[in-house]
Amino acid sequence: MIGRLNHVAIAVKDIEAASAVYRNALGANVGAPFDQPEHGVKVVFIELPNTKIELLEPLGAGSPIAKFLEKAPDGGIHHVCYEVDDILVARDQLKAQGARVLGDGNPKIGAHGKPVLFLHPKDFCGTLVELEQV
Ligand code: CO
Repeated sequence: MIGRLNHVAIAVKDIEAASAVYRNALGANVGAPFDQPEHGVKVVFIELPNTKIELLEPLGAGSPIAKFLEKAPDGGIHHVCYEVDDILVARDQLKAQGARVLGDGNPKIGAHGKPVLFLHPKDFCGTLVELEQV
């Protein structure tokens, strides 16, 4: 069902400092930060030859990554995103196997302008999984 690894998302407290680490120490192609108020995050994309890194900083009160950063003050891997051809087919197959889809179960438009869903980490080896239709 899943295809390519679309991105690995890393939650950070300071997206400018994290961008500098990737740009300067790691020599990566780091994009400009932008706000995603509907997801409660500020985002930076880093283009790697085979995938992307998505840096996430909390935006606004009640950001979904604020609690994560309380437990991981240095930052940490927040989720992995796998590509699927048809997000509704993927969702229905996963639900039929008992997997929990977060939120109301309907895809939202993600940071790349494409439909995304999140799957409960307890059903996927302790890792929050994002599915993106490409
Ligand atoms: Co993501």
